[in-house]
Amino acid sequence: MTELLNPVERTALLTAALRAAESAREDRLYDDPYAALLVGETGPELLAEVRAATFPPDRPKTLPSTPDYNAIRTRFLDDYLQRAAADEGMTQIVLAPAGMDSRAYRLDWPAHIRYFELDRPAVLAFKEDRLGEAEPRVDRRAVAVDLTDDHWEESLLAAGYDPALPSTWLLEGLLYYLPEADIERLLARVAALSAPGSRIAADMVNEAALTLPQMKGLLDVFARWGCPWVSGTDEPEALFARHGYAAEAVQPGEPQASYGRWPDPVPERHVKDVRRVFFVHGQRR
Ligand SMILES: C[S@@+](CC[C@H](N)C(=O)[O-])C[C@H]1O[C@@H](n2cnc3c(N)ncnc32)[C@H](O)[C@@H]1O
Repeated sequence: MTELLNPVERTALLTAALRAAESAREDRLYDDPYAALLVGETGPELLAEVRAATFPPDRPKTLPSTPDYNAIRTRFLDDYLQRAAADEGMTQIVLAPAGMDSRAYRLDWPAHIRYFELDRPAVLAFKEDRLGEAEPRVDRRAVAVDLTDDHWEESLLAAGYDPALPSTWLLEGLLYYLPEADIERLLARVAALSAPGSRIAADMVNEAALTLPQMKGLLDVFARWGCPWVSGTDEPEALFARHGYAAEAVQPGEPQASYGRWPDPVPERHVKDVRRVFFVHGQRR
């Protein structure tokens, strides 16, 4: 069935493979018992290609570690979503996109949460097939849409989303694949669906991450697969502010997002020629 997924859809299997590998570690930052089910045949192969590009067996590593980065991202955003959901006024969570994310199944959620998973139809169909009889621990609603299409909001509203109520949106593992114009349009549309007090979180890379020579190996892998990284920003706070969010950007390795797993120094923000990843989070004004 994974042959039915296009290149960017298949990256959901890569992320599942990273989560399966993390869950097998003794010092894991989280446990995702569903990840191994969700990798398909392709996920481990994709992960092997990423590892070969960033940790060549015969040379020193060229980049901060993708597995460590991904472990920290998952844990940071687990904690973020759980804190948001603990607020009784926060009744809606939207994963855009959801991919093979199993938070609806592996985490506990308060009863007041309505939990929407958006992704392309083929991805959600693959996920349903793999998860079989597994029971979500929350009122989960799958919404099959393309987030760059016109009118996807209608499908979300039809699934029971209420734009008058606060919501928390998670844009995880998506924005580097979208051209800048699509990012701006998506953020404008999410903001239009988000009542004041709503929250948002996303991960982004900086501009240098798209051009640095030491990134070439990793960038070439994604380009070869047919889903190149095309967008990055040095000013994620300003990007989200343009759409009405008071936002903050945290980098893996900083105290709020280290968990003892980030081995590399975090250069100060004014240093331009380094690769950065940002966990951006903000609140709708
Ligand atoms: C790297 S995965 C991340 C999925 C999930 N957030 C996670 O962290 O596991 C990227 C996902 O983006 C989805 N995606 C990419 N472009 C999309 C679009 N235009 N509309 C809906 N989903 C999209 C893919 O189908 C894939 O599931």
